[in-house]
Amino acid sequence: MTVSLPGSSLIATGMAIPQRIVPNSWFEGRVDTSDEWIRTRTGIRERRFAEPSERTSDYATRAALEALERSKISPEDVGLVVVATSVPDMRLPATANFVIRRLDLKNAFGYDVSAACSGFLFALAAADAQIRMGLARYALVIGAEIYSSILDFSDRNVCVLFGDGAGAALFGPPSGREGAGILRTQLFSQGEHAEILGCRGGGTAGRKDMGCSTGDADRIFMDGPMVFRLAVEGCCSSIRKVLDAEGLVPSDLARIIPHQANYRIIEKIARTFDYPMDRIEVNVDRHGNTAAASIPIALNEAVTSGRVRSGDLVMLVAAGAGFNSGAILLRI
Ligand code: ACO
Repeated sequence: MTVSLPGSSLIATGMAIPQRIVPNSWFEGRVDTSDEWIRTRTGIRERRFAEPSERTSDYATRAALEALERSKISPEDVGLVVVATSVPDMRLPATANFVIRRLDLKNAFGYDVSAACSGFLFALAAADAQIRMGLARYALVIGAEIYSSILDFSDRNVCVLFGDGAGAALFGPPSGREGAGILRTQLFSQGEHAEILGCRGGGTAGRKDMGCSTGDADRIFMDGPMVFRLAVEGCCSSIRKVLDAEGLVPSDLARIIPHQANYRIIEKIARTFDYPMDRIEVNVDRHGNTAAASIPIALNEAVTSGRVRSGDLVMLVAAGAGFNSGAILLRI
């Protein structure tokens, strides 16, 4: 799907991450791995894990509240909350409903988007379309995950990769500033690769009464090298399509904010476009892969540090389970 119409504008961002920092060395006594292997193969040095008593909506709410407080928008004017997550509080209702309750949003409707690591982009595309349709004036778009709750800590292939947290962005109608807002959206799903990465638990495919073992239901399965290859291809082709459609070249972008799965994936994207690494937002070393939360966390860090400013052209890009990929071109 490709869209090019005047789009919603970014008003404010926020994030919330757990207190508990888990360095690579924490895994060394649990599985056959090493800090050196994790750092050199993924770029991750540490991640943060939530406490077992915490819910995904706790982080989603805190991130959204920070975005709301930084804006001058009244909670009454928020018409929509979309939470991208693979680890909802409950099967039903949606995590977004808990955010609406906690923030006491009286005029909002909400729902969750399940699109794994591309989730924030899919959620933002949906919110942008609904703002354009007039269904909501302001939308809180949130990526929130507690992957530590679904990790198998005996599987070294997966458990070292993920971290927990949430990021949020408040979007509203076109700001009136020349060219500001979402300029183009490109989303793609490759159904033939639907089962190279997933988790059956909580779904009908994970029903224990139908023969799925507890161990099988509760662990993430992943073909790592295949995911790596498809992630590079998916991110690069999404960026290429958006640039071509807008008649832009990579150097027109002030910054690329990619999903943070693996430093080597990000390096390959940079090399493909001959784009300088110092203009790519990287935080995988500190957060690990926070799935749908990674882009809004990175966006928040870029905005609050001043690495992206008003007027900058920014490319958000992601790929992950589905196999989904996409890019959104945004003028801040
Ligand atoms: N510590 C030590 N060794 C390990 C570890 C570990 N934590 N994990 C795997 N290995 C071993 C493997 O068992 C294998 O050993 P073998 O050769 O004896 O069989 C060896 O390292 C090489 O394994 P590969 O999988 O080929 O290693 P690779 O260099 O591809 O790196 C990695 C693995 C990091 C998982 C990489 O493939 C990757 O990043 N893939 C993408 C993963 C990803 O992004 N997943 C999230 C997607 S987003 C979403 O939607 C949730």
